[in-house]
Amino acid sequence: MDLFEYQARDVFEKHGVPVLRGIVATTPDEAEAAARELGTDVVVVKAQVKTGGRGKAGGVKVARSPEEARAHAEAILGMDIKGHTVHRVMIAEGADIAEEYYFSVLLDRANRSYLAMASKEGGMEIEQLAVERPEALARVAVDPLVGIDAAKAAEIVAAAHFDDDVADQVAEVVQRLWDVYTGEDATLVEVNPLVKTGSGAIVALDGKVSLDANADFRHPDHAELEDTSAADPLEAKAKENDLNYVKLDGEVGVIGNGAGLVMSTLDVVDLAGKNHGGVSPANFLDIGGGASAEVMAAGLDVILGDPQVRSVFVNVFGGITACDAVANGIVAALDILGDAATKPLVVRLDGNNVEVGRRILLEAAHPLVTLADTMDGGADKAAELAAAAGPAA
Ligand SMILES: Nc1ncnc2c1ncn2[C@@H]1O[C@H](COP(=O)(O)OP(=O)(O)OP(=O)(O)O)[C@@H](O)[C@H]1O
Ligand SMILES: [Mg+2]
Repeated sequence: MDLFEYQARDVFEKHGVPVLRGIVATTPDEAEAAARELGTDVVVVKAQVKTGGRGKAGGVKVARSPEEARAHAEAILGMDIKGHTVHRVMIAEGADIAEEYYFSVLLDRANRSYLAMASKEGGMEIEQLAVERPEALARVAVDPLVGIDAAKAAEIVAAAHFDDDVADQVAEVVQRLWDVYTGEDATLVEVNPLVKTGSGAIVALDGKVSLDANADFRHPDHAELEDTSAADPLEAKAKENDLNYVKLDGEVGVIGNGAGLVMSTLDVVDLAGKNHGGVSPANFLDIGGGASAEVMAAGLDVILGDPQVRSVFVNVFGGITACDAVANGIVAALDILGDAATKPLVVRLDGNNVEVGRRILLEAAHPLVTLADTMDGGADKAAELAAAAGPAA
């Protein structure tokens, strides 16, 4: 999960990284009030979107009065930055910038290690610097077992050739940022720019933090950092039910058990779709190896709730969850949904208790359900039904 800048700022503060005050605003009124509350001569109005290049897009503006902050907020709120709509701005204290630096630490999968990067030339697009003058961007491997201690911080600062007057301070901040990285189980912590102010202080003026969702169980407080407004409502519903669901662009809903089977089902549906006007999978949904009838019902409920879905392909290989349990789940789900279920379902069952499972579905004889003998046949039928249902609503 990526954090907004204002959330990164809060996390930085918690770990002792020097930051400036900032107040989030969602309306021009709030922006003006926030600028007044900060009370500094200069404030900066900053778009809060999870993408880079906000400054270049006009999403970062200096204001010299609360009224000006209001006007900037009016212009920035609602702005589209690389496909992200700005719903909030942060009103930040204005910094008196003498120099702009760069620092990041991230997971280096290829080297099974962490990598710290630092430069005296921050502020501009760091990707450009890395390409045009790679020598200006120091890269220092960080041993995961040791981390960034005082010695490693000194090594990073020396590698980036920071001037003597700031070297110790930068080294200190780098250790605090490492504390953010490990303490919060992040996969990326990036500060661009890290600045030296006119009075010689080192301050993080911008922050990008990505958290490792695999470590969520260690951080109950991270749940509130989630941006529920941006989440797809279907994905949110699936998450509530502990379903592995990913929304895709097509028309054929897909449910299967086991990630591998579902992945190959997506491929097969996509291929079959080419013979039926180019329909494609509407989602990935893995109800898991040991899924119960209730889980099947919850999964169907999520998929049928997607207005883009024209047909559903249920592809299950009975294992721990036998086919009869799956069949009962389908019948129960259709019962619960009643008139809300209006889309045709193609069901292919195989494996443990397949005969009983098929019999349950045949006896229920639900008008929306078609049984398929094979995965290819089922995918073809589901694609055909989706195409026949016409363009998505
Ligand atoms: N609080 C501040 N006071 C003074 N100047 C600031 C402040 N925040 C940002 N700036 C200036 O604006 C520039 C851009 O800000 P920032 O780094 O936050 O956005 P960005 O780099 O455009 O966005 P991103 O990092 O998402 O690409 C900074 O390099 C800095 O010069
Ligand atoms: Mg930046």
